[in-house]
Amino acid sequence: MDVIVINGGKALSGSVTTSGSKNAALPLLFAALLAKGEHSFENVPQLKDIDSTELLLNHLNCETYRTGNQLKVTVNEPGELVAPYDIVRKMRASILCLGPLLARHGRVKVSLPGGCAIGSRPINLHIEPLQQLGAHIEIENGYVFATAKKLVGDRIVFDFATVGGTENIMMAATLCRGTTVLENVAREPEVVDLARCLRSMGAKIEGEGTSTITIEGVDELEPAAYSVIPDRIEAGTLLLAGAITGGDVKVVKCVPGDLYALINKLADCGFEIETGEDWVRVKPCKQWRAVDLDTAPHPGFPTDLQAQFMALMTQANGTSVITERIFENRFMHVQELARMGANITPETQVAVVHGNKGGLSGAPVMATDLRASACLILAGLATEGETVVSRIYHLDRGYENLEAKLAGLGARIERRSL
Ligand code: UD1
Repeated sequence: MDVIVINGGKALSGSVTTSGSKNAALPLLFAALLAKGEHSFENVPQLKDIDSTELLLNHLNCETYRTGNQLKVTVNEPGELVAPYDIVRKMRASILCLGPLLARHGRVKVSLPGGCAIGSRPINLHIEPLQQLGAHIEIENGYVFATAKKLVGDRIVFDFATVGGTENIMMAATLCRGTTVLENVAREPEVVDLARCLRSMGAKIEGEGTSTITIEGVDELEPAAYSVIPDRIEAGTLLLAGAITGGDVKVVKCVPGDLYALINKLADCGFEIETGEDWVRVKPCKQWRAVDLDTAPHPGFPTDLQAQFMALMTQANGTSVITERIFENRFMHVQELARMGANITPETQVAVVHGNKGGLSGAPVMATDLRASACLILAGLATEGETVVSRIYHLDRGYENLEAKLAGLGARIERRSL
């Protein structure tokens, strides 16, 4: 078992490069299923979730070949069109093969992903729109069986601006007969990236980044040659690592516009932030103010940075009320922060954080999910003494070499195998 050991209390400084976005890369790799032939993706991070995606693509008779951060995917005629439980349970985003396979082959069987630590995470907003496009769907024995002679475009209004649901239906609609209008869609940068990639493959899509996306179906698409956008959640985590240590950190090769909500919050706390075309710098600050935070769909504050921001608030001057509005159970890090001495009153979706600079002490803690792992590492960086974070397989799902990047900024952090 690997753990991460941190001896904190040291201000970070220097420059660090952002990796490719996990949440953008995953749908792009599934979009490859829409076109036969050799696809080439650049800036694909080396992560466990990408390995799981490759495993699923291999299972669907695709070949994958990695050189550094380039990933080539050759899509052949599939044999079995099945996404089995053993792969889907490791990574919920596997459900993103549903739309592309159904649209291109007219049938697919995908295991239900089930709930996960942060909430129940149903897939009704993937299933119902596909039914509206003409799919026949049955759920039996833990699997979704979907068939369709030909999907036909329609007007679909999402009840909630789901990221994965928007992506799945966008992909399916590229090969529909006629025009599909998707309303109340997610506006996340990863959705925009998917639309751009699909357009480069020959899809006719308009409106990405707004709440209405229009897709005119085409008969077939070309293989993609596409580079993944930088990971805004990783960039935000690195900025917060600089902030919580009172350090001076410049995060490069990122998209400052995608980090607007975080940059605003940091400024409200009293941090001085500088931005350039593709970089953001947080400057040293000895004492910052507590501010309240509500997570929201993009362009609001991302739920994927809530845990890391909470770590920052444990060191703030004052009390912060943090409200999680996307997932119903995304405060598991609260108990672990409390083990380090944080004073947080959690309720169902609201946590009241009583800031106390220097009030944390190193402790053994356990990561409960991907972003909670990052939160605990940040808390460890701000703390004198030794913090040992276990269950870091969660971290490896979504952060490329985080400990090496932090060590490059001067953090005393290392991975140990027990
Ligand atoms: C994606 C991100 C995840 C991020 C989340 C919200 C990927 C691989 N993951 O997850 O990191 O935290 O967006 O920004 O990109 N919901 C339903 N029915 C559905 C689908 C979703 O009720 O069919 C609910 C979910 O339970 C949740 C909310 O909608 O409460 C948001 O989920 P969604 O936007 O779909 O998140 P994901 O795409 O799963």
